Amino acid sequence: MNLLQEVFFTFFLAVIVYFIFEWITRDRVNKIINKIPGPIRVPIIGTTYRLFLFPKEELFKRAKVHLRNYGPIIRTWLGSTPVVHLLEPKDIELILNNSVQITKSSMYDSVRPWLGDGLLTSTGKKWFTHRKLITPTFHFTILENFMEIFVEKSKLLVTNLQNKTITEVFDLYPHITNCTLDIICETAMGIQINAMSDPNNEYVKNVSHITKETVDRLMKPWLHPDFIYYKTNQGKRYKKYLSNLHDFTTKVIKERKEKLITKSKTDQTNESNSSEPDVIGGKVRKAFLDLLLESPINLTDMELREEVDTFMFEGHDTTTAGICWSLFLLGNHPDIQEEVFREITTVFEESNDGETLTINDLGKLKLLERCVKEALRLFPSVPTIGRKLTNDVKLEKYLLPAECTINLQIFLVHHDEKIYPHPEKFDPDRFLPHNIKNRHPYAYIPFSAGPRNCIGQKFAMYEEKTILAYILKHYKVTAIESQETVKPMMELILRPKNGLLVKLESRKS
Ligand code: HEM
Repeated sequence: MNLLQEVFFTFFLAVIVYFIFEWITRDRVNKIINKIPGPIRVPIIGTTYRLFLFPKEELFKRAKVHLRNYGPIIRTWLGSTPVVHLLEPKDIELILNNSVQITKSSMYDSVRPWLGDGLLTSTGKKWFTHRKLITPTFHFTILENFMEIFVEKSKLLVTNLQNKTITEVFDLYPHITNCTLDIICETAMGIQINAMSDPNNEYVKNVSHITKETVDRLMKPWLHPDFIYYKTNQGKRYKKYLSNLHDFTTKVIKERKEKLITKSKTDQTNESNSSEPDVIGGKVRKAFLDLLLESPINLTDMELREEVDTFMFEGHDTTTAGICWSLFLLGNHPDIQEEVFREITTVFEESNDGETLTINDLGKLKLLERCVKEALRLFPSVPTIGRKLTNDVKLEKYLLPAECTINLQIFLVHHDEKIYPHPEKFDPDRFLPHNIKNRHPYAYIPFSAGPRNCIGQKFAMYEEKTILAYILKHYKVTAIESQETVKPMMELILRPKNGLLVKLESRKS
């Protein structure tokens, strides 16, 4: 046989083996799944050909066409794995509100090398124990302490933007990213990386590289198998960034552990009160990591690293996107921005010193909060979440078989015109109490819902409102792109393809 014949023969054999495997192992699943409407399935690649038919920024538009064509439940095939997409709040509730269906789908494998088995990716007993352990670290009094950090970093951000002229068009996105990175490093690890003043900081660069490489790999199915990926230059680069990030977190954990031991020895010698708070970053405050180190369950160094890395990942990209989409929408709706500005000015005037917001002050920013919520409806930072079913689930019309992958389409629920009339319209009043009253509780789920909802949602809302209040107090924001031209892209989280292009006008002049 010549080489061509060998290749052809191998391919032919692979196709035969594939079909036999499918027939034997997937017969039941296939029969059940095929009752659900969806696009035509092609052997081996399933329905993934659709990913290649349209550019990345078209995917959401396409998803809406799917919705119209196939209805509120759609099945696709990721190669030979069936994926069912749910778009109805009542169906989504059946999965999210089910304490058994807590296993994440293979979509999360892309972040596993970085996050390991942290809270986002783990399942079963480990997830349950860690969730119980970590929940108190997001208590109100702890978040109240973090408020100082939110304010300090917001003030610095506003100062850094002072050199922008009224006519200059620039991308605000990286400035917000650096601000939220500074905040999460100090709140999660108790360290200052000063990303805003030093964007070339090694840790900042590694976080940005790793996010880019992860997204790139996700979009290239042929790079998914580890044995291929780590042989490519891209895979080798990824490994390097990963080891830098892990080394950094490991070092921080080691140092904080040593500090804790020294402190406990000093306390014993001085017979001082052990409830005395630690000194972190020059200020009396505890970081998430300190709270984990003090917990009654001894986490291993690896477990500590997984949880800290998870906070780092979940806790800055998501809020950055939320803040940027809010500014984008307010920058397109100057009338609403003026109302928000008036509300902010009043709250600042009534605050303790006229320039430092407290958590209580944030509670008074009602319109701003509705804007943030409406931005998270139109552009949810996490537009899709996935589960792998551990047993069959019966929906009204269809049965979802065990082992099946479920995609809960947050973005599409939020854009359903039956739930939100004129869904593309930015209308913060959708979140007035009388308008929320009659909506299904699972019709608005930017932070997911049920036992695996976002543990950091209060942190996120406080942080977003603080940063937005400071920016909008000092600057009038004009967005350059419109809702019609902006291209939301799914890159782990939903972000605008061209960043956040704006012009700023100082409110002082
Ligand atoms: C606007 C900001 C945020 C949004 C939209 C958001 C959204 C979400 C969503 C949708 C989930 C569920 C993921 C899933 O089921 O696969 C989630 C989980 C999670 N989020 Fe957030 N998040 C935000 C901010 C944060 C922040 C600031 C933190 C930490 C400081 C955080 C930490 C987590 C963690 C640890 C989980 C996993 C929880 C578990 O499975 O028990 N998030 N988030």
